[in-house]
Amino acid sequence: MKNIVAPSLLSSDFSRIKEESERLNESSAQWFHLDVMDGVFVPNISFGLPIIEAFRRHTTKVLDVHAMIANPDPYINDFKSAGVDILTVHYEACPHLHRTIDAIKKAGMKAGVALNPHTSVSLLSEIIQDLDMVLIMSVNPGFGGQKFIEHTYEKVRSLKAMIDMAGSRTIIEVDGGVNLENAPKLVAAGVNALVAGSTVYKSEDPLKTIEALGNA
Ligand code: DX5
Ligand code: ZN
Repeated sequence: MKNIVAPSLLSSDFSRIKEESERLNESSAQWFHLDVMDGVFVPNISFGLPIIEAFRRHTTKVLDVHAMIANPDPYINDFKSAGVDILTVHYEACPHLHRTIDAIKKAGMKAGVALNPHTSVSLLSEIIQDLDMVLIMSVNPGFGGQKFIEHTYEKVRSLKAMIDMAGSRTIIEVDGGVNLENAPKLVAAGVNALVAGSTVYKSEDPLKTIEALGNA
């Protein structure tokens, strides 16, 4: 089975959202990965709801939103209205995670939880059954183009064991420094969805790179 590939649009040209969406619509990428950063939870500000809406107007692919924001709860319905399919919030930003996940699902989206590199997957043991996805950060969130943290493989393996033991259908996504060299190892460890920013955008032929990641 092919891996899900989610190109990270953080490094795309936002003055050309229509053209960029049309190009990716022709690719084998199943998802568009959209990184929302608030300058509080992470030391960077990216974009918000109007940009998500703009991508929604030009694609029918799954919009996979990675919310790197300190307080996602008041915006859950806004993300849904903007056309989001999967909303991932950070474990470290949600003191009432169960309530947040419940609200995301009730709004009609798939619910994901992202873990920073220092956050143990074991902290999800009581909620894994309720999660559609877990996003393992393989860099510290905030910027594209960073170096992949090798400890990620171990985290993916522990998470996969937890999911299997719970008999859950939770998807594992990895984000940060993903490339053609580490992708096959991540897939072997149990990853289902690969986020890739620089690897796609800095390659000579982004569509071919997406295809290669899908077959990794
Ligand atoms: C980083 C973002 C990533 C980023 C990935 O905080 O969550 O999605 O765009 O970029 P690369 O693939 O270049 O590490
Ligand atoms: Zn991301």
